[in-house]
Amino acid sequence: MKTSILFKIAALAVMLFGAQVVCLAQSAEKGKETFIKNGCWQCHGFVGQGGITGPKLAPDPKPFEFINVFIRHTKGPMPQYSEKILSKEDLADIHAYLASIPKGPDYSSIPLLAK
Ligand code: HEC
Repeated sequence: MKTSILFKIAALAVMLFGAQVVCLAQSAEKGKETFIKNGCWQCHGFVGQGGITGPKLAPDPKPFEFINVFIRHTKGPMPQYSEKILSKEDLADIHAYLASIPKGPDYSSIPLLAK
């Protein structure tokens, strides 16, 4: 009897851990598609560089946890994206895409700007 409870607890832990792995399996390539499909680029630019409407998101995006809370609850000029519209997995991909965007070169390495 005791072993069966332990077995159930272990099975539950595996299920929870398994779900966690799914959440963490991100794809920058898929994230780019999702970023474009959901119109993020219209305000934030194709590489998250920022635009007239939306602030810069990359390089060095804010942590996933911040973005996940922000886009679900914002009441500012940006439209809210519920989990029905944009799942946590899709957002994790977007975060991976933003994190994959390289930093631009240092301005001092560009002859016209280095003075
Ligand atoms: C209609 C224009 C618009 C669209 C579309 C849009 N955003 Fe935004 N976003 C904004 C604006 C404007 C802000 C700044 C608003 C504020 O701070 O309240 C913002 C802020 C953010 C921030 C917080 C930035 C920070 O540093 O505080 C994140 C993250 C973000 N957007 C991600 C996204 C993602 C991901 C998508 C697509 C799923 C998206 N946005 C689509 C306009 C937009």
